[in-house]
Amino acid sequence: MRRTLVAGNWKMHGNSRSVEQLLGELKPSVAASAAEVAVIPPYLYLSQAMSLLADSDIAVGAQNVCKYRGEGAYTGEISAGMLKEFGCRYVLVGHSERRALFGETDECVAEKLAVALEQGLQPILCVGESLEQRSAGETLRVVGRQLQAVLQGVNQPLDDMVVAYEPVWAIGTGETASPEQAQDVHAFIRQELATFDRGLSAKIRILYGGSVKAANAEELFAQPDIDGGLVGGASLDASEFAAICKVVN
Ligand code: PGA
Repeated sequence: MRRTLVAGNWKMHGNSRSVEQLLGELKPSVAASAAEVAVIPPYLYLSQAMSLLADSDIAVGAQNVCKYRGEGAYTGEISAGMLKEFGCRYVLVGHSERRALFGETDECVAEKLAVALEQGLQPILCVGESLEQRSAGETLRVVGRQLQAVLQGVNQPLDDMVVAYEPVWAIGTGETASPEQAQDVHAFIRQELATFDRGLSAKIRILYGGSVKAANAEELFAQPDIDGGLVGGASLDASEFAAICKVVN
């Protein structure tokens, strides 16, 4: 049985005061959700989030990780070991903003995923097509390539991986894939995972991301291959995010 995961990706938003306020409101309001709830703040607020959430079941994740192992001369980077030491459970890898704005290739994404697994983190692998690619009928080819880069490029067992399907055209735009459009791609991802390893495919959670809000979460999460959501904008509003978590019961 795959437990539904609702993870809030805060991106580069917030300050110490807003972190305190958001988590203060969130803690009591998501306590009754059957979903596993996670927040993914900017690096600098991880420590504050960890201490504010010490008495709560809300998990914490990071938005990025260095692809290099151990310690070293990698100015500006944060290692998987450091994230683990801080108590992170999750780490995003291959978010479309990192792929598009920071030049992350499939190969780099696979390297980051591998170091995260080695340190006992649960990587959330983000995949998804652009509007142009969808219009050209290339959705499954693109998503398949992004997924295969990890299935073929990572040697560690992938049991702790989570996949997030995030159509780029639906991120931050208010456009959401219809539940059927999302389910089609999720079923394809599940099928690709099954071809690789049947047991793994039944276990791995596949989240949907792209303008998830309280008004559309229920229908999306009801799809057989959608195991929760990766929520951007709506995760910055405590009552909206709590309402998304509460559709899971
Ligand atoms: P959004 O972002 O919910 O604001 O569309 C989702 C994401 O980028 O993870």
